[in-house]
Amino acid sequence: METAGDQRPLRVAVLGCGSVGSQVVRLLQDQSGDLAARIGAPLELAGVAVRRLDAPREVEVPPGLLTTDATGLVARDDVDLVVEVIGGIEPARTLILSALEHGCSVVTANKALLAEDGPTLFEAAEKVGRDLYYEAAVAGAIPILRPLRESLAGDRVTRVIGIVNGTTNFILDKMDTAGSGFAEALEEAQELGYAEADPTADVEGFDAAAKAAILASLAFHSRVTAADVHREGITDVTAADMASARAMGAVVKLLAIAELRPPTEPGGDETVAVRVHPAMIPRSHPLASVREAYNAVFVESEAAGQLMFYGPGAGGAPTASAVLGDLVTVARNQRASTRGMVESAYADRAVLPMGETVTRYHVAIDVDDRTGVLAAVAAAFAEHDVSLRTVRQEGRGDDAQLVVVSHEATDAALAATVAHLQGMEMVREISSVMRVEGESE
Ligand code: HSE
Repeated sequence: METAGDQRPLRVAVLGCGSVGSQVVRLLQDQSGDLAARIGAPLELAGVAVRRLDAPREVEVPPGLLTTDATGLVARDDVDLVVEVIGGIEPARTLILSALEHGCSVVTANKALLAEDGPTLFEAAEKVGRDLYYEAAVAGAIPILRPLRESLAGDRVTRVIGIVNGTTNFILDKMDTAGSGFAEALEEAQELGYAEADPTADVEGFDAAAKAAILASLAFHSRVTAADVHREGITDVTAADMASARAMGAVVKLLAIAELRPPTEPGGDETVAVRVHPAMIPRSHPLASVREAYNAVFVESEAAGQLMFYGPGAGGAPTASAVLGDLVTVARNQRASTRGMVESAYADRAVLPMGETVTRYHVAIDVDDRTGVLAAVAAAFAEHDVSLRTVRQEGRGDDAQLVVVSHEATDAALAATVAHLQGMEMVREISSVMRVEGESE
């Protein structure tokens, strides 16, 4: 067992030297004195695994430390801690498992892997008594996983609503403030380096869904995977949706929502509803003020009430900040031969199917402007047991539009109502359908 007087360096292997990895290497070098003081022993770079030795890099890696042999690096006897910032499922999973088997604690930013196969990694860490920390996997620099896991461990979290994808927030913000269409806003995001050349993971909501699964697992002490998350991206959000939102004092955001739902039948168990989709939220909601590529996570819990965590959700240095924070903790734990808090999945709550999840819809319907149309539209909602909260008419004659906001109903009932409306002869077009969040009923 190592003791407080033991000043032997802890040797760190970094897997990946892209925008995050290079900033991890930089901070390890630039902050070495402070890191040593905080840990009680120096952190020493043991090696940096890369795909190509000659690729251009943002940071100078000391000669001899670069290697293309990641498998060999994590198996070395002189490596104590491993940082995985390669991303993707393989080879990251095999490398993390090997690192743990070789007795290293691991820090990773890999949301896709954690959301797909987290339990395999947690069980491997448990087996060898090492830490697996991953603060950087959700919302970059923002401390949100540790607050959920540790600070709120004595409370009961009931809902988490996050803007956890900066690219889509940037695009929606441009559509709102500059009146851009989706394609134009995406192009601007790509020019500024917020969006990748292939933006699918961001704009189709895959990235946010992985983060939603991680947030839901921690908040509700259950195992939730990316496949459990209902996912809709922002590619179908139109200028008409933006205008409709503006007209009712709302803004459109891509939200990752995880909430505790009451039992669906007497004596049943609580469930977890997890979804990612664009939604209208009131401009007065704290999440509406999250602009450009920033992220924020809004947490509701029984005792604490409402909390919001805000900051940069991506980028090399901000993400490296979260990685280094974890690295200090796992290094201290390893020196003290202890571990931090481990996976907590005791509640084992089931995930509620999206159709049974309770939501509210905003529907803008272009209709004929004549007697009985409003009554027929209202009757369609009533037929599916959906109660209306507000109805207003915009325009008249050929420009007549009914804008309906429902009360809460199951998502299946609301979707059936929209399908019903689409088949009505007095309905010319449904110009906007979007869920409404962030308002109490
Ligand atoms: N691509 C993500 C974003 C950052 O746009 O927020 C990494 O998860």
